Amino acid sequence: MPTKKLNIGLMGCGFMGRTHSNAYNQVNKFFNLEYQPVLKAACARKEDEQKLLPFAKNFGWESTETDWRKMIERDDIDVIDIVSPNNTHHDIALAAAKAGKMVLCEKPLAMNGAEALEMVQAVEKAGVANMTWFNYRRVPAITLAKQLIDEGRLGRIFHYRAKYLQDWTISADVPQGGQTLWRLDAAVAGSGVTGDLLAHSIDTAVWLIGGIDTVSAMTETFIKERALQDDPSQRKPVLIDDACAFLARFKNGALATFESTRYARGRKNQNTFEINGEKGSIFFDLEDAHQLQYYDHGDDSHVHGWRTILVTDSDHPYMKQWWVPGCVIGYEHTFINALSDFLKGLETGVPVRPSFRDALETQCICDAVLKSAKTCAWEKVNL
Ligand SMILES: NC(=O)c1ccc[n+]([C@@H]2O[C@H](COP(=O)([O-])OP(=O)(O)OC[C@H]3O[C@@H](n4cnc5c(N)ncnc54)[C@H](O)[C@@H]3O)[C@@H](O)[C@H]2O)c1
Repeated sequence: MPTKKLNIGLMGCGFMGRTHSNAYNQVNKFFNLEYQPVLKAACARKEDEQKLLPFAKNFGWESTETDWRKMIERDDIDVIDIVSPNNTHHDIALAAAKAGKMVLCEKPLAMNGAEALEMVQAVEKAGVANMTWFNYRRVPAITLAKQLIDEGRLGRIFHYRAKYLQDWTISADVPQGGQTLWRLDAAVAGSGVTGDLLAHSIDTAVWLIGGIDTVSAMTETFIKERALQDDPSQRKPVLIDDACAFLARFKNGALATFESTRYARGRKNQNTFEINGEKGSIFFDLEDAHQLQYYDHGDDSHVHGWRTILVTDSDHPYMKQWWVPGCVIGYEHTFINALSDFLKGLETGVPVRPSFRDALETQCICDAVLKSAKTCAWEKVNL
């Protein structure tokens, strides 16, 4: 039974506001933890108040705010959870750390490496617990991939091949900016698919096989100009990357390719990676998230072949907290799993990963990718 309450202040009530609220409500029902989150206050911009009030009622938030600074001033908030657009992360995190709050932040941690570094310095100086929500680490099949690699089952890694594909911006009629399409506005998002989608792929890759040394990238903006969502009579240049592909050399000598686009017709959220090692290979696809494909060269040669591991057994990561073998879990559970790890970290004193510092590394890789796309040269990752 939980014995310690942890008062949460949520900054944002959109897509991630919903996944996180669900996690706060569910986590103690499935995980045995000392800490229990209390849904103390949810905050959104004043202009989103009509969404905020029913959102707060629906998920059980005790109170609401429409100014994030007021939320940080409140003495009854222990944790600030940032689920607002990317250009707000830095200022909120710095103020929250200065006020001595624990800080959780959605990915990408910041608009760029310089901002991310200041955020790391702020939480480390304040000595407050912190985590970045790279939730795909908490897909049981991806955590299992990490386990197989750490057990040495792949041996020396030669190749990493990642793709993150969507198709929702193909129409030239999709506007940019405003409440719901800030991802197309570079001033709010920082970048396009590089920060939004490849940040996930990079975080997973670095976690699984280690740091990246150099990158060579290309990006494209297929639709150069779009109307503004807030004022459709105005059109402005599109300054985000619609697509990005890059080559990378890992510090351990492995070679990688990463590709992301929002122009892959038919692909809604296909996030895949394949890893080829001396002793075996692994393949994962988020659209089949409960499975991990594994090839073991150590098998007898007459039974060589890819096997599909259904990652639902009680000895698979996180799964003993959920249902019986064969029953799959979904997208929302990755946030519950992540939250349980954060709370467990508070309990044990072993800080949860990915920390802000881990996310800084991903941010610096994104910066090197975007720089390389401009210089058309190999760029070193500056950490
Ligand atoms: N981990 C993941 O898989 C994942 C998925 C989607 C989004 N994200 C990240 O989560 C963050 C939010 O994305 P989203 O899709 O939930 O966005 P969204 O547009 O659905 O919601 C954004 C929310 O932020 C609020 N907001 C905006 N400015 C604010 C301010 N100054 N103060 C307080 N609240 C403010 C808005 O009112 C809105 O409620 C982004 O950083 C995004 O990259 C992560």
